[in-house]
Amino acid sequence: MTAIDDSPARDPDALRADMVRALRDQDGINSEPVAAAFATVPRHRFAPDAPVEVAYDLHRTVPVKKDENGLELSVMSAAHLQAVMLEQAGIEPGMKVLEIGSGGVNAAYLQELVGKQGEVTTVDIDRDVIDQARRCLDDAGYPQVRTVLADGESGVPGGAPYDRIMVTAAAWDIPPSWIRGLTAAGRLVVPLTLCGTTRSIAFDRDPDGDGLVSRSYSLARFVPMQGEGAAEERKAMLREGVALQTDEVRVPLNGQALNRALDTPRLERWSGAAYDLPDELELYLTLNLSSPARLHASNDVVECGVVEASALFGVPALVSEDSIAYRTRRENEDTGGFESGVIAHGPGAEALADEYVALLRRWAHDHRHRGAATFRYLPGPAPTPLPQNAVLRRHGIVTATWH
Ligand SMILES: C[S@@+](CC[C@H](N)C(=O)[O-])C[C@H]1O[C@@H](n2cnc3c(N)ncnc32)[C@H](O)[C@@H]1O
Repeated sequence: MTAIDDSPARDPDALRADMVRALRDQDGINSEPVAAAFATVPRHRFAPDAPVEVAYDLHRTVPVKKDENGLELSVMSAAHLQAVMLEQAGIEPGMKVLEIGSGGVNAAYLQELVGKQGEVTTVDIDRDVIDQARRCLDDAGYPQVRTVLADGESGVPGGAPYDRIMVTAAAWDIPPSWIRGLTAAGRLVVPLTLCGTTRSIAFDRDPDGDGLVSRSYSLARFVPMQGEGAAEERKAMLREGVALQTDEVRVPLNGQALNRALDTPRLERWSGAAYDLPDELELYLTLNLSSPARLHASNDVVECGVVEASALFGVPALVSEDSIAYRTRRENEDTGGFESGVIAHGPGAEALADEYVALLRRWAHDHRHRGAATFRYLPGPAPTPLPQNAVLRRHGIVTATWH
């Protein structure tokens, strides 16, 4: 029998004060204006159907809308992620800001940050979401925020140029309207998905060209962008519980041959290098493997020993027509905790393992720290030949350099 929780709901003001303290402690909030915005906005009023403790939980999202298969189309983002992105955005009083992907609460934070002289527009592709955002904003005392129903792919040209554009759905590309819609000193904060893994990247205009250059990035998870800008992803089911995904057109995804490869004996290679900062390493691998995909395995498959546990939440894989290699780890005191390694299968296992292990070593030796990457987005037709390891998108290319 489930125990009934009859403890009284906690006071929202007290929960909000606790949330702000915890966001400071956990490096979500680093500035006084963002702290003041989070201390002011009555967050629970934007999640009227959720328990108040959930609305003020740092790391929990609140469901807003799902599709017929139960996939989340809209959520109220977790407070920690919102704080990190608002810090990345560096919003100042008087600014004009566009939020793409609505819900209400983040727009209310934005309004607090831009103050009376600033302007906030929030756009959503979903009528139910934007209607609820409108109701909540009015109810919470933010009638001045402009709500727009539209596909954010085209921006909201009526209000452009914006000092800041903040995207709150996982984007696969950066459409021209977002770059055009920024002021000369404007900044775009966007959760960009690269081969199945998403980073919230703060981009400024690149002084060396007509593109964008990153100033910070942070691991993020978002519902996918819908509409014209939706991701172009390819997936292959190798067998029950084992899937590969990639958004790179040049990567071969031969599901049958790779499934056969999994039945061949595994080749295990150890790098002798430390495994830590997993999100930074994963990003480096995703952008530097010559033929990257993401390998996912279910619990059952991992328990049977077919695939390592590193694939439970997705792991960067290197694939060829008939072979596959992916990262693993083991405890090793000499490397300080864990050592990284590679599992490879198939006729080309040796070559794939060599390439993979070389990257694990290079990262550990040269780039093993936070913030090692600088991203660039170059709009327009892709240059030929394509720069090494550039990620090809519909409207431009993404490149990364490592320091
Ligand atoms: C994570 S929710 C936004 C959370 C919100 N910013 C908040 O205050 O918590 C992502 C939203 O993006 C919207 N969305 C997805 N694709 C879109 C598009 N192409 N244009 C505008 N909105 C889009 C979804 O409908 C969803 O409501």
